[in-house]
Amino acid sequence: MDLFRTKDISRTVAGTKNRGLAKTLGAVDLVLLGIGCIIGTGIFVLTGVAAARFAGPGITLSFILSGSACGFAALAYAELAAMVPVAGSAYTFAYVALGEIVAFLVGWALILEYTVGAAAVAAGWSGYFAGLAEAIGFRLPKAFTAVPSEGGIVNMPAVIIVLLLTALLIQGTRESASLNKILVTVKLSVVALFLVLAVPHVNPVNWEPFLPFGYKGIAAGAAIVFFAYIGFDAVATAAEECRRPNRDLPTGIIGSLIVCTVLYIVVAGVLTGIVPYGQLDNSEPVAFALHYIGINWGSAVVAVGAICGMTTVLLVFIFGQSRVFLAMARDGMLPAVLAKLHPRHKTPFIITVITGIAVAAISAILPISIIAELTNAGTLFAFIVASVGVLVLRYTRPTARRPFRCPAVTIIAPLAVVFCSYLLANLPLLTWKFFGSWLGIGLVVYFLFSRRHSVLAQNQDGSSGPKLIKAVPVGAAATDPAGVLRYSTTGMRGSGKKLSRRRLSGRRP
Ligand code: ALA
Repeated sequence: MDLFRTKDISRTVAGTKNRGLAKTLGAVDLVLLGIGCIIGTGIFVLTGVAAARFAGPGITLSFILSGSACGFAALAYAELAAMVPVAGSAYTFAYVALGEIVAFLVGWALILEYTVGAAAVAAGWSGYFAGLAEAIGFRLPKAFTAVPSEGGIVNMPAVIIVLLLTALLIQGTRESASLNKILVTVKLSVVALFLVLAVPHVNPVNWEPFLPFGYKGIAAGAAIVFFAYIGFDAVATAAEECRRPNRDLPTGIIGSLIVCTVLYIVVAGVLTGIVPYGQLDNSEPVAFALHYIGINWGSAVVAVGAICGMTTVLLVFIFGQSRVFLAMARDGMLPAVLAKLHPRHKTPFIITVITGIAVAAISAILPISIIAELTNAGTLFAFIVASVGVLVLRYTRPTARRPFRCPAVTIIAPLAVVFCSYLLANLPLLTWKFFGSWLGIGLVVYFLFSRRHSVLAQNQDGSSGPKLIKAVPVGAAATDPAGVLRYSTTGMRGSGKKLSRRRLSGRRP
């Protein structure tokens, strides 16, 4: 049964005090962080593909279907994020609600969402970048802009943008949030510009037939455009860097989702209203649509905005992944050395570098379609677990402090599970095979490493929080070469090496 040991909520939260992450983010930062992560490849690329191949003008209904699944899951996320404002998002929620092995698998699935998802976005970014470069006269060689399965060698623009953003994230959350604000402003302005230019050209004839592929097309389209919504949950990974997490986290999560849902439905409706849906199957449908109605300058501006949009998504995804890894490393699920903070910037620089390299490597050689579908699978899994978790906690921890309560939780949480499961079921078989294999590898890692190194295993009374330890800047570890973790409440100061010996001898620290 120790597979299902859970963390204590209040101690988990208390255990984050003085761990060194700077608390710099407010509600507006979080809404912008959410929008920064949400609007990107999904609306700028996948809307056209999904409309042309699956849903036709009914793509607006696909967005409503996917948006509903995300809305239900967002309410569950908001309750959990305000209740357990600790880095790690659904991983941490699963740890307090459902137990260690479930949490580990969620953390493992979140790697698909953030690392693989970032790689998909980087690949999309590269496509737009190459297109824009060509438009101004610089044709980049295909060998260095395409992955091997598409006739290239390596996707170099993707690698370069990922490494640049990784370096920025190491500089600090505040600086990254500032860049995010600028890019989000550009992105929203460009979407607004598209609407202003396109609305007068809407021809209702293009909306007929509205459902050329029938009702099944709506579901198939929804399973793809789900990618467009991914990201609001990344707000929860910034929990420890919020000034007022109880109030600001629900605002950030739900606020950013509402803004994006409205924009998506309107953009999808206008897009299919100005261009026959069959012509939208290309890599830049929004820019193409303006070109189609003869507004070429608008098309170019939108292309630049799309690049900005994808840049912010990348930034938040790499940020989110590093925070999930951080939470897992602090719990002993991953090697403790990963939790080291940078002495000056107070950011988890080792994890950030590893994430950046992994994202760059995946985007360098793998095609966007497969990695985007895998991203959807990992994310839907995390949403389902979080929605189950919120319900379970209402029964197992009825008196826990809930600054935000999911309304009608006995209806909303099951609806989230049903909607997300439905979208998961609509993903291709190949994606299911990859996803199953990924979880299988995760189980092997859990049983070979994480289960034995779990900090909770050292504190069977569930008090992993305060006894564990705070991550210290590397500069402070002069007398402690392994110096990652120190016990702060026992009077003993132990290095990572001593910790390992204690674990082997089965003694409590
Ligand atoms: N929602 C993000 C995007 O569409 C992943 O790019």
